[in-house]
Amino acid sequence: AMAAERALAMATCTAPVNIAVIKYWGKRDTDLILPINSSLSVTLHQDQLKTTTTAAASRDFTEDRLWLNGKEADVGHPRVQACLREVRRLARKRRGGGEDAAALSLSYKIHIASENNFPTAAGLASSAAGYACLVSALARLYGLEEELSEVARRGSGSACRSMFGGFVQWQRGERPDGTDSLALQVAPETHWPELRVLVLVVSGEKKPVGSTVGMQTSVETSPLLKHRAEVVVPERLAQMMQHIRDRDFEGFGQLAMRDSNQFHATCLDTFPPIFYLTDVSRHIIALAHRYNAHHGHTKVAYSFDAGPNAVIFALADTVAEFVEVVRRSFPPATNGDQFVRGLPVGSAALPPELAAAVLTEPVPGAVQYILHTKPGPGPQLVDDPSQHLLGADGLP
Ligand code: DP6
Repeated sequence: AMAAERALAMATCTAPVNIAVIKYWGKRDTDLILPINSSLSVTLHQDQLKTTTTAAASRDFTEDRLWLNGKEADVGHPRVQACLREVRRLARKRRGGGEDAAALSLSYKIHIASENNFPTAAGLASSAAGYACLVSALARLYGLEEELSEVARRGSGSACRSMFGGFVQWQRGERPDGTDSLALQVAPETHWPELRVLVLVVSGEKKPVGSTVGMQTSVETSPLLKHRAEVVVPERLAQMMQHIRDRDFEGFGQLAMRDSNQFHATCLDTFPPIFYLTDVSRHIIALAHRYNAHHGHTKVAYSFDAGPNAVIFALADTVAEFVEVVRRSFPPATNGDQFVRGLPVGSAALPPELAAAVLTEPVPGAVQYILHTKPGPGPQLVDDPSQHLLGADGLP
């Protein structure tokens, strides 16, 4: 009787956002989420951007339930169900079918609550952090210790890369069942201590075409995407890994910009075409190139996902000056003091010849704010029970 199954168990984890420098765009299997090419990303620090998820299982729960940012959501979503099913399957396998009395019953219903420490509407790749966090919390709940990027991949392709910190490759894999389509850490977050990331939030609007639908249309219609997956990405992936190993910012930055541009070129090559970049995005691209040209080498590199926000890579010694360039180019409308968030940014005065060469007519208010962050670690367990997003009654 003492060893009866636990009546309630709860686990909370946090997980990071990642930004690809060799982009994933296109699936060869839409159900298993198997990509047409490998990809490579930088995991961003959770001090600035993270998802927190609590998973609870109880004898007393009558149905599975899910809350996202405080609002109840559809737990029956096929991708949520795929993650749940896979975690439970692994837990069952681990127990070898036998009944471990001390273990949490797999027949208990579960409650999940998840929230972001950043506005979901800002279009900052919340699904990657969200599914990585869901899988991490569930794994913890059931006591799984294996590598779970394969399971996170079933939630969202890019989520598998959020299962590791630092620099992460999602290897395409060859097998039809997807067992070799998983994430691998290329280098930890400590590998390149000077690397910084600036997220330029240009719009709070939701993107017009979601990545899942957009990339499927691209697979069906874009000859450029086919060429990219077969020829371009394999070469670039090897080059990018070497640039990261060498901490070669020139090589890393150039290739990141080229790959972002090619991804958006495949969107234009899609029929009907998909537009994620806006005038403000293109303005930022031109600004980065003028800034690099003035310095005579690559000091900043941009990358854009399925939305208009710019992610800028730079080394620490460039951040203050480039932030000033952005502030002068896009003077903040009202939130002057909150324009720069995240890691502290020093002040810099622009040398007149730089200002003359780089700045053009300012566009007030076009950039809402800048978030300053850096590479960070993978999912973390939250030990402090007061941090759970569900109460002892299993409700938010
Ligand atoms: C442009 O991972 O969101 O951000 O697998 O359908 O959920 P699904 O798509 P998702 O696509 C991300 C696309 C991208 C590039 C990238 O992150 O590699």
